[in-house]
Amino acid sequence: MSNTDKIEELRQRRAESHLGGGEARIKAQHDRGRLTARERLDLLLDKGSFRELDAFVTHRTSAFGLDKQKFVGDSVVTGWGTIDGRLIYVYSQDFTVLGGSLGEVHAEKIVKVLEMALKNGAPVIGLNDSGGARIQEGVVSLGGYADIFLRNTMASGVVPQISAIMGPCAGGAVYSPALTDFIFMVRNSSYMFVTGPEVVKSVTHEEVSFEDLGGASVHSAESGVCHVVADSEADTFFLIRKLLSYLPANNLEDPPFKPSKDNPLRRDEGLDSIVPDDPSKPYDIKEVIRMTVDDGAFFEIQENFAMNIVVGFARLGGHAVGIIANQPMVLAGVLDIDASEKAARFVRFCDSFNIPILTLVDVPGFMPGTDQEHGGIIRSGAKLLYAYCEATVPKLTVVTRKAYGGAYDVMSSKHIRGDVNLAWPTAEIAVMGPDGAVNIIFRKEIAGAKDPVKKKDELVANYREQFANPYVAASRGYIDDVIEPRDTRPRLINALEMVTNKRDQNPAKKHGNIPL
Ligand code: HXC
Repeated sequence: MSNTDKIEELRQRRAESHLGGGEARIKAQHDRGRLTARERLDLLLDKGSFRELDAFVTHRTSAFGLDKQKFVGDSVVTGWGTIDGRLIYVYSQDFTVLGGSLGEVHAEKIVKVLEMALKNGAPVIGLNDSGGARIQEGVVSLGGYADIFLRNTMASGVVPQISAIMGPCAGGAVYSPALTDFIFMVRNSSYMFVTGPEVVKSVTHEEVSFEDLGGASVHSAESGVCHVVADSEADTFFLIRKLLSYLPANNLEDPPFKPSKDNPLRRDEGLDSIVPDDPSKPYDIKEVIRMTVDDGAFFEIQENFAMNIVVGFARLGGHAVGIIANQPMVLAGVLDIDASEKAARFVRFCDSFNIPILTLVDVPGFMPGTDQEHGGIIRSGAKLLYAYCEATVPKLTVVTRKAYGGAYDVMSSKHIRGDVNLAWPTAEIAVMGPDGAVNIIFRKEIAGAKDPVKKKDELVANYREQFANPYVAASRGYIDDVIEPRDTRPRLINALEMVTNKRDQNPAKKHGNIPL
């Protein structure tokens, strides 16, 4: 064979590999409204940057006639490329090859990419579209999954891991995405569940559709499994690229600095009046965020889950920050089980990847009730407390209004290593709200008064005057300064630059025991 023939053979083999499961299955994939594994990588990565690994791998199984169904490259496309010029490792499951099912070599390809990402310190993005364990390969498939789970766990906290669910993701297959940092789902086109509708029906007699059991809406609003919902495949890739702009390549690097034209000294007078005079009236904490951060740009995570707390990424003076903010618009911003867990995971992500944390506090306390107590609010609240306590990244806090009870301590207070703790003049920092407090300490006085309602109002006003303000906390140094709301942006940027070189560490240990 001449050199020319050999080169021609290479081209043919590569072309075969690019065809995946063949024209008919590619058409079927398009008819399902979905892109192929390679089309997805083209949209996700910088143009022309993809370098493929293991394009010529084939499976080694002959059971159930599989020896007659070999596809060059098997059912996943792997490699590396760039996003905004930064190195990224990728794998993209190919549904046109045996339903994207995961057998021995499919797993080996993913493991190779995960190990390279870990060794070379760059994020990994997995595009999931698979019928699950390759049934013909039996336990070897299960072993392959476990090999991936182990690598996901080893890479956790070392390099950012992002999963996008582009089609089916069922059975134990869900646990690889679940071990990664962020799960994206495509609305009306992807689903995740441990056991499918058929099994659910036979075990619990419930009839449920794929979408209602594990679609993007369910996982973004109810289970909290999904972090970002996209309206289309293209939108998914756009959002992944945006998320990556806030993240460092690995745990030894700082997040990328991106200067903006938004003046760091910009003062927003609108903030002075955003907190209503009536303390029981809500306001939108996302407005406060938008008015404070660079260009009003906020990348929200888990937008529709536990909406009483808001988490996401933004920039202040070009520095990436992770924001955690109680949302007075939803359940008065109370901390419940879901909100505590959502925020705890986010705090830990930021701490793993050197992203400073900004906490905006307006919290009446923990949610009361048997549902919450029996559901383990003690355990969940402790997760958030633990996450804040152990975090050594710069921690900035602004109390905009209520900071009552245990929730005051939890929300990045000075006592748990808050670096700069500021309060607005509207802040109310106390053991509990005025109403509850006077009901307890003045119960007899109120009951014995000629006009109990008037008496209570007087006592509430007195309590508010004495305790429901930022000055008791500020007089003890628990609050570093009380600031005019309009100064929030310049003060935060100044504080962030002041703590840039912060060094803090926890005692040496194998790992802590976060109350799971
Ligand atoms: C081998 C599979 C496969 C699988 C699909 N295919 N799933 N081959 N192993 N798990 C093949 C089909 O035979 C078919 O081959 C092609 O992929 C496309 O599948 P269709 O059924 O035609 O597609 P569609 O109608 O869109 O349905 C998609 C599907 C369905 C809902 C995912 O294929 C399905 O239910 N598959 C089985 C899912 C499953 O039960 N997996 C095991 C889960 S348990 P041809 O040649 O016709 O193109 C599990 C344990 C993991 O994963 C544990 C980890 C710890």
